[in-house]
Amino acid sequence: MRVLVLHGPNLNLLGTREPGTYGTRTLPEIDARLATLAVELGGSCASFQSNHEGVLLDTIHAARGHYDAILINPGGLTHTSVVLRDALLGVGLPFVEVHLSNVHAREPFRRISLLSDVARGVITGFGPLSYELGLRALLS
Ligand code: DQA
Repeated sequence: MRVLVLHGPNLNLLGTREPGTYGTRTLPEIDARLATLAVELGGSCASFQSNHEGVLLDTIHAARGHYDAILINPGGLTHTSVVLRDALLGVGLPFVEVHLSNVHAREPFRRISLLSDVARGVITGFGPLSYELGLRALLS
């Protein structure tokens, strides 16, 4: 089972970005933990981050045939991106949506996700553990 981990806009800033909301763990640290966990669980994963919607779409399109599932933190695109939804539906790979923060305990606009209803599941509010739980869900 090969999982593609996708991080959307601004997640490259983790570690210094609003640490009260997102914590102090950096993206490379999160990705390293996920890579180790995937192997422990008998699978594999590769991670990719982009601040560009189109690059994320291209990466999702290219995932077909190379990955079995997608673990995605779409960042702010969660709340806005019809094209991201369409790309995920278009390739037909199962995906889990994750968020570090509890999006339901923040501004009202963050409660809206254009992806949640077509995701296999959604995990929100557990910091970096959200990714680990999502990976466990996909690999189990
Ligand atoms: C986020 C929540 C989004 O609302 C926000 O725009 C992000 C990060 C999270 O992981 O908590 O960039 O996806």
